[in-house]
Order: sequence, then structure tokens, then C-alpha cells
Amino acid sequence: MEGKSEMGGGPAVPITVAYGDGIGPEIMEATLRILQAGGARLAVERIQIGQAVYDKGISAGIEPAAWESLRRTRVFLKAPITTPEGGGFKSLNVTVRKTLGLFANVRPCISYAPFVATRHPGMDVVIVRENEEDVYGAIEHRQTADVMQCLKLITGPGSERVIRYAFEYARRYGRHKVTCFTKDNILKLTDGTFHRIFEEVAAEYPDLKSEHWIVDIGAAKLADSPEQFDVIVMPNLYGDILSDVAAEIAGSVGLGGSANIGDQVAMFEAIHGSAPRRAGQNVANPSGLLLAAVQMLVHIGQGDVAARVHNAWLKTIEDGIHTYDIYDAQVSREKVGTREFADAVIARLGQRPRVLKPVDYPAHDSPISVGLKERPRPVKELVGVDAFVEWQGAAEELGHRVERLSGEGLRLVMITNRGTKVYPGGVPETFCVDHWRCRFQSPVEGAPVTHPQVIALLSRLVDAGLPAIKTEGLFTFDGKPGFSLGQGQ
Ligand code: IPM
Ligand code: MG
Repeated sequence: MEGKSEMGGGPAVPITVAYGDGIGPEIMEATLRILQAGGARLAVERIQIGQAVYDKGISAGIEPAAWESLRRTRVFLKAPITTPEGGGFKSLNVTVRKTLGLFANVRPCISYAPFVATRHPGMDVVIVRENEEDVYGAIEHRQTADVMQCLKLITGPGSERVIRYAFEYARRYGRHKVTCFTKDNILKLTDGTFHRIFEEVAAEYPDLKSEHWIVDIGAAKLADSPEQFDVIVMPNLYGDILSDVAAEIAGSVGLGGSANIGDQVAMFEAIHGSAPRRAGQNVANPSGLLLAAVQMLVHIGQGDVAARVHNAWLKTIEDGIHTYDIYDAQVSREKVGTREFADAVIARLGQRPRVLKPVDYPAHDSPISVGLKERPRPVKELVGVDAFVEWQGAAEELGHRVERLSGEGLRLVMITNRGTKVYPGGVPETFCVDHWRCRFQSPVEGAPVTHPQVIALLSRLVDAGLPAIKTEGLFTFDGKPGFSLGQGQ
């Protein structure tokens, strides 16, 4: 920890602040100055994260004392940091989000036409991105010479809480529709779960419209006509990609703030990075971090200050006081640096925008909290195993070898290569790599199998010179298969 300071009158709310790397310190300074002038009641604890900590050889980029501060204040205002390139360094963003259970990433993407150039003047979209799961566990393995694998984990509880959060958010902030994007035409179990829970939760909010789009066409529609969307909830990776797209087409990723919300802790940050090339020149736009700080003020029950700061910011934008990134000689009045921009916002505290829509937040609001529905645990039964083996050669030949290993309650059902069935009955056109999934189930269709039978099979595979790279149990849940079938079956 690096020290404490207090600002504002009234009971100060402790928050943890990190100045970050690159343009981080400049935009944080500007932001805190505006908050202070706006009357925010904050007791700031400063921590160090990022480059300086990585340089000490701490691969996570954050030290134990910093965790203590975060767990004590439970509110984190974070400037962007630089994750060093090369192996061994972990993304601090992801570590903090996952460690502290910050499950919902709320990213408003709003256009400020005609003052900030955009093709979508009516855009006002809030992306609620699932923030802990999906491929962000970054559980990756190289399994054969040819094949790398990443586990995409989508959980029922993880999906439910972010989806409930999206609906609660929509209700609280007077929005009318919640849209869900997934790819469940392909990913029937992972994305299928997200979609199914979305439909289930949507039914509890009859006052809100709801709709689902497959992410590819949904993303195309979002990019083409964002004014048709309101709140959009989606799994982590789609949300990462599409929140940048949405922020950029609204005007600039430089204006986007975000809130990372957990049950107990919340982190507020700009959605852009640390822009090292712009560092130290007093040119960076502090708006993304400032708007994140506005979300923070609402979160800690200082909605009055949030509205004052936000309206002053809107007035500054509307008055044409712009940093280089959004400066446009046609509409801007003055090109300013980071500090001057902050001064301009401070000078407008107490004013409201005339053309842009002013904001109002309830003065004292409690954070949105979501619970999970009680669900009976399903009855789970082992009905087979997928054993993945490395093999260079033809599918038919592998099929014959593996076929011989059937027995003791397990029978080879099929072999797939990259998910496509190649045995029995493959076609020579299918391109195959050295990674094969051999599916074994009971000779009696759908009948349960035992772990000792699986273990015996694995040792037969070893003896045949085909040791399993990995196995996946095939389970049914309340009688329904919990595994995908091969393509082309
Ligand atoms: C974001 C960023 C992060 C992410 C990176 C920096 C790990 O792109 O906040 O969107 O992928 O979530
Ligand atoms: Mg991103």
C-alpha cells in the first residue's frame, strides 16, 4: 500500500485506487481531481499494481498488501495497466475479476452525437458481459504434436447470476429489453445452458422484452443498427469482443467505462488499455476512467455526486472541449490535454447538458444483488468414456486396432477426429490430425458402466501402444446425455 488520503465532506467511503501504467497515472489524477471537486466523499487507499510489481518478479502483478486493501474496501478504481509480453505474466485484470468473484462486467456504449462522430447517433446499449468463465480460465493444454486445447467452461450458477444481474439492471435503470447472444446452434451444452437459463430468467421479468440472437448475426445487427438494442447479456469472450465493437461504433473505445460487479467487491475501470505510446504527454482522454468512476459513485450510494460529475462531463463534450482522440475540427471548439479537459469538467460542475440527455441517479441506492434459484441436483450416471489418443495414420486402421480393445462391458461406438466421425464409415476427404476421440459405451444401449471397467479399458489402451492423452466421462443427468455427439453421425 502506498498511502491514504481523504476527500469530500460527510462520511467518506474507503476505496482502493491504482494508478496503473502508461497513461494510467495521468487519467487517474484527472479523474480523482474531478471527483474531489464534484464533492465525492471518498477515503482513498492507493495500491501499486502492474509494471512496477511485475518488475519485482511477481508474475501476477499484484502484491499481498494490495489484496488486503481490496478485500477491506471492496471498491476498486483501477487505471489501465500493461501486461508484459512474453510467457509467465498473467493478466491482472482477469486475476482480479476471477479472484474476487466479479461476475458481471457492465459496459455502457452510448453515442454522443453530434459532438462525437458516429454513424449511430441513437445508440444507447449496455453490454453485460459474463466476467469469470468461458475460455477465460485459460485452461490450455498441448495434447499432441498437432493439437492444442482450451477448455471453455460455462456453468449454470455463473450464467444464472450474470443473466439475473442483466435483468435487474434493466429494471432498475428503466430499460425495456434484454437481448442474449450465444452460439448454441453449435455449442448446445455450453452456450445452450446460457441460453436456456436466459429464457428461464426472462420469464420472471414479464415487464421487460427479451430476445436471443445467435452471436454471429446478432453481432452483425449490433454493428449495423445498434439502436435496436438495449441491454445485451453474453458469455465472456463474445462480450469482450463485442463491447469493444460497440464502444468503438458509439464513438470511441476511449469513452467507455466499465463496472466489474461481484457479490461483495466491485472494480471500476476504463475499457481501453494503457496506451504506453501516449504516456506522459498530457494528451490522453480521461473520459473512460471518469465514466467508470461515475458508475462507482452510483455503486457506493453517492448518486447525487455521480449525476453532478456525469452531467458536467456531458456538458464539456457538448461544449466541444475535446481531447485529440475525439477532436474534429467541424464540431470541436477546443483541443485540450488531459489536465485541461479535467479543468473544463470541473468548471461545469453543477451544469447540465442542453442537447445531450442529462442523467439522474437516485441519491442513495443500494447495489443490485442477485440470488440463485434452488435447483435439485440431477441424478448422474456414468454411461461411457471418450478416450483421446495420439495416432498418425488412417482412421480405418486405428478403428480396427481399437475395436479389438472392446470388451468387459465397454464397446467402441465411434472414433472422431476434431469432432467429425471418421470410424466406422468415414470418408477419405475428411482431413485428420494426430488426435482421435474413441468413444466407448455399454454394448447394451444407454446402460450404465463402471469406473473399474473404464480403468481396465485404459490399461488395454496402454498395452496396445495407444495410451490415452485424456479421458472424458460420459454421463447422463436425469437420464439426459451430458455430452455432444460426433458431427456427421
Ligand atoms: C477487457 C480487456 C481484458 C479482457 C484483457 C486486458 C485481459 O480486453 O477488459 O476487455 O480480455 O477482458
Ligand atoms: Mg477487451
